[in-house]
Amino acid sequence: MAKITVLGSGGFGISLAVMADNFGHEVTVWSAFAEEIENIRRDGEHKKLLPGVKVKESINLITDISLIGNCDIIIFAIPSAFVRKVAKLAAPYIPENAVIVNVGKGLEDKTFKRLSEVLEEEIAGNPVVALSGPSHAEEVAIGMPTTIVASSKSMEHANYVQEELSNKTLRIYCNDDIIGCELGGALKNIIALCAGICDGMGYGDNTKAALMTRGITEIARLGVALGAKKDTFAGLTGIGDLIVTCTSMHSRNRRAGILIGQGISPQEAVERVGTVEGYFCTKVAWELCRSANVEMPITEQLYQTLFCGKDVKTALSDLMGRPKKHESESIWTAK
Ligand SMILES: NC(=O)c1ccc[n+]([C@@H]2O[C@H](COP(=O)([O-])OP(=O)(O)OC[C@H]3O[C@@H](n4cnc5c(N)ncnc54)[C@H](O)[C@@H]3O)[C@@H](O)[C@H]2O)c1
Repeated sequence: MAKITVLGSGGFGISLAVMADNFGHEVTVWSAFAEEIENIRRDGEHKKLLPGVKVKESINLITDISLIGNCDIIIFAIPSAFVRKVAKLAAPYIPENAVIVNVGKGLEDKTFKRLSEVLEEEIAGNPVVALSGPSHAEEVAIGMPTTIVASSKSMEHANYVQEELSNKTLRIYCNDDIIGCELGGALKNIIALCAGICDGMGYGDNTKAALMTRGITEIARLGVALGAKKDTFAGLTGIGDLIVTCTSMHSRNRRAGILIGQGISPQEAVERVGTVEGYFCTKVAWELCRSANVEMPITEQLYQTLFCGKDVKTALSDLMGRPKKHESESIWTAK
């Protein structure tokens, strides 16, 4: 059994902490927000995000980051925009041999870095493993069968995380393509926003299937240009996570998209829903595909909609009216 510290007491942090505690690990959860921790302690659950999921007293809840302890695994369950800030705060207290596990899905604004790169920079010397795949907190927390992937430059450490965190309801695969795994997790949020927009506009299953299929094609195209393996996008962190995010009401990206499709402004939709990582990721992906000279037509139209005031109907009709193509044209090169 391992000593596990989870940074972040939101939906996913608490769901992983509850699961690890249920399977006998020694678990500590840290949050920057005293009120969040006090509420969980008082209610014995995270009432807002995971009502009915018991947070037992055996889970140590803290707000002082210097108390993260002599742990084996530190899980970052923090929205991507704040991962660097929290890593800087935690770095002085992280034990030398602790394995850093990131579950956040996003890319850093301005630097365009993957979150494992951010963590490697801030916590130099510790191995970093990305844990990603189709895994809504609400379902993980109540033990619904879930499969995810541990990926790392170091297979030894990906295997360690697989060994420690797998259990009878969570099956973990390993993958050495951390670039592909992280990009799949981050970029699918863009397509989920689009899927939500189409739902909000009243479109149906055909439209969603089209978005998901052409979406994974453009995600993979950018991923391969950035050094990922094409196969990874056919796996759990690629198409698997895309399916779950585009079809579920648990997805905040999809929920924000629905509001936009119903005519709410993108900024208001993001404010109403909360953590909508696809909104920020769209900007980063738009910059990345331009610099890598890769065509991403769905991302382009979403960017125009979110940041340039383009109306969703025009964006969709521009997508449908693109030059006619062969489905299997040489998709890995820019046009
Ligand atoms: N919720 C899910 O089902 C799920 C599943 C897989 C991966 N993820 C990923 O995990 C990450 C966390 O997701 P979540 O749903 O738990 O998010 P969340 O919005 O519930 O927030 C997580 C926690 O991060 C901490 N936090 C937020 N802002 C902070 C700040 N400015 N400074 C310091 N700490 C801050 C808080 O403790 C907060 O509760 C995201 O990147 C998300 O994509 C979420």
